[in-house]
Amino acid sequence: MNAKTLLRVGALLALSFLTGGAAWAADEPAASGPAANALKQDAVCTRCHDETETRPVLSIFQTKHGVVADARTPTCQSCHGESAKHVAGGPGVGDASRPAPDVLYKPRGSVYKASEAATQVGACIACHKGGLRTHWSGSQHQMQDIPCAACHKVHVKSDPVLTKATQPEVCFACHKEQRAQTHLVSTHPLDAGKMACSDCHNPHGSAGPKLLKKNSVVETCTTCHAEKRGPFLWEHQPVNEDCTNCHTPHGSNISPLLKDRPPFLCDDCHDGPHNSQAPYGSGAAGLQGGLLGTLASGATKTNPNTSASGRACLNCHVMVHGSNSPAGAFLHR
Ligand code: HEC
Ligand code: HEC
Ligand code: HEC
Ligand code: HEC
Ligand code: HEC
Ligand code: HEC
Ligand code: HEC
Ligand code: HEC
Ligand code: HEC
Ligand code: HEC
Repeated sequence: MNAKTLLRVGALLALSFLTGGAAWAADEPAASGPAANALKQDAVCTRCHDETETRPVLSIFQTKHGVVADARTPTCQSCHGESAKHVAGGPGVGDASRPAPDVLYKPRGSVYKASEAATQVGACIACHKGGLRTHWSGSQHQMQDIPCAACHKVHVKSDPVLTKATQPEVCFACHKEQRAQTHLVSTHPLDAGKMACSDCHNPHGSAGPKLLKKNSVVETCTTCHAEKRGPFLWEHQPVNEDCTNCHTPHGSNISPLLKDRPPFLCDDCHDGPHNSQAPYGSGAAGLQGGLLGTLASGATKTNPNTSASGRACLNCHVMVHGSNSPAGAFLHR
């Protein structure tokens, strides 16, 4: 807004006060219907907040919120509140002269402060309850007062959080640990823009743990990795329980996305002839343990030989996710 606009606005305000608001309405196209109505309502604000704004404002008309012919489309006031005192304020800026609009999202800070999270969210949720937001109330983001506008930009033509390639950056602003994890050796293709956080998470809330899209980790993972779901003749119990018994979803230095390297990974739950207390390796020597086994595999718990321990238990128990082998329950082919 520039000084000239402000002057013009001042004059218009005075005029409209005298003529009962008809002054600017006379400039409107004679058309009626939702489109004309929406524009008329927006003019309450756009006569000041016009193309001279340094931040994107009018570009909202190039978004889905700007389809003026659609009766569901919000006006400035649907989101920012009626803001009567703001509209009627004097030519100065700041609360003393021109009180803030009713709902303020990301003000520059020098003039006004952002509204409480609940106020901000209230304006959006009025039109966007249900669907993905069924579990918003009580969700981790809601409980931490993260408003919709922490992730969404509505005045720009393309909202970065809605595009796979740009979404992670939005989340990383707060979730730095996950950013670091996605730079490890083995990851989901998040950096490549082929996948986004929202392939596994519903940031608006979820009935499952950790804001996962589905009710459990297994259900979430097997939407894409269906072949790991079984049913198998011989199930491996931890696979049915939770993929994160062995995998970490965001990134690991142990491929493929493993929490630890076999045999240590397996040792967490298994002992007996195959546990790390006893040596192991290829062939019967490994099974029997003892010095021979150690020599055969070249691996011990304290001094693992990476190439031998790399497959370790998997040399024999190849079908770690479950097996249909007629030969028995030992997760082999
Ligand atoms: C008579 C002129 C005028 C009208 C009408 C007006 N505003 Fe404002 N508005 C201002 C001024 C002046 C400021 C403070 C300077 C600035 O940030 O542009 C401001 C600031 C704002 C801000 C905060 C900007 C920031 O960065 O802090 C928002 C949001 C806003 N107005 C929304 C609205 C909405 C929505 C309407 C319609 C309901 C509206 N305004 C109507 C003059 C007006
Ligand atoms: C008056 C109702 C209304 C209000 C208030 C409202 N929206 Fe919307 N919103 C819509 C409509 C209508 C669409 C278009 C839906 C469609 O095309 O299916 C939409 C679409 C969206 C989309 C999808 C955009 C896209 O490109 O696909 C997002 C994100 C969104 N709104 C976020 C918000 C946020 C954040 C707020 C609060 C700051 C908000 N909305 C307030 C009505 C509203
Ligand atoms: C933590 C970040 C985050 C917050 C907070 C957030 N969103 Fe979203 N929103 C997203 C992401 C990511 C998507 C894309 C989801 C997808 O593609 O599955 C999305 C998609 C949407 C869509 C379009 C898809 C649809 O549901 O039709 C709408 C509308 C929307 N959000 C509204 C809201 C509203 C309203 C709020 C506040 C109550 C909100 N969002 C809070 C990240 C967020
Ligand atoms: C769908 C809800 C919605 C509608 C409709 C809407 N705004 Fe906003 N407005 C927001 C959100 C959310 C922000 C925060 C920045 C962003 O998301 O791009 C914002 C930011 C602003 C700002 C910058 C100050 C701030 O609070 O960040 C101004 C000024 C503004 N809007 C004015 C308007 C005007 C004028 C209109 C009508 C042409 C309008 N807005 C329509 C939701 C909306
Ligand atoms: C403005 C900061 C902010 C942004 C942006 C944000 N988050 Fe969050 N997120 C939080 C806070 C705060 C929590 C709750 C505290 C915690 O558990 O870290 C949280 C919690 C979560 C949780 C649940 C953690 C748990 O322990 O249950 C997940 C999953 C999550 N966010 C994913 C996302 C995704 C995906 C995005 C981007 C679409 C995103 N967040 C954007 C701040 C943010
Ligand atoms: C392949 C599915 C998947 C993708 C993609 C994914 N996550 Fe997760 N995320 C999970 C699972 C499963 C958990 C819970 C288990 C865990 O914490 O290891 C989780 C947990 C989290 C947590 C809570 C961490 C904690 O310590 O409790 C946050 C925060 C989070 N994810 C953010 C993100 C962000 C941000 C992105 C995008 C960059 C993302 N996630 C992408 C599956 C995924
Ligand atoms: C939206 C689909 C999708 C979901 C959901 C998903 N993944 Fe993936 N996963 C992929 C894609 C795509 C790749 C990369 C495949 C490639 O590079 O060939 C991948 C790769 C992997 C890899 C191999 C990584 C490597 O370094 O080779 C593992 C392990 C994996 N996912 C486990 C999981 C787990 C555990 C979950 C649940 C927490 C999960 N995935 C959820 C799509 C998904
Ligand atoms: C008991 C530990 C364990 C559990 C639990 C587990 N995995 Fe794995 N997963 C592994 C190991 C070990 C590998 C490497 C296999 C190899 O190198 O032959 C692997 C490899 C993978 C791969 C990449 C290679 C391939 O076979 O496609 C994907 C994808 C995968 N797992 C998905 C899942 C999913 C989805 C779940 C949950 C349903 C799951 N895993 C549960 C141990 C496990
Ligand atoms: C989170 C714990 C856990 C981890 C990690 C784990 N397992 Fe298991 N495993 C089990 C449970 C529980 C069973 C079923 C109960 C049993 O027979 O001990 C099982 C069963 C097995 C069986 C079949 C035994 C039988 O008698 O049917 C084999 C073989 C096996 N696991 C190998 C492995 C290998 C190889 C790894 C490492 C890649 C591994 N496990 C990692 C918990 C685990
Ligand atoms: C040289 C091949 C081989 C290697 C390497 C191997 N196993 Fe086995 N494993 C077997 C065979 C064969 C059986 C069935 C033995 C039997 O009938 O006594 C078996 C049985 C098992 C069983 C079920 C019986 C029991 O003792 O509980 C578990 C669990 C198991 N292995 C886990 C592991 C783990 C964990 C590792 C890695 C530390 C491992 N195995 C390494 C071949 C191997």
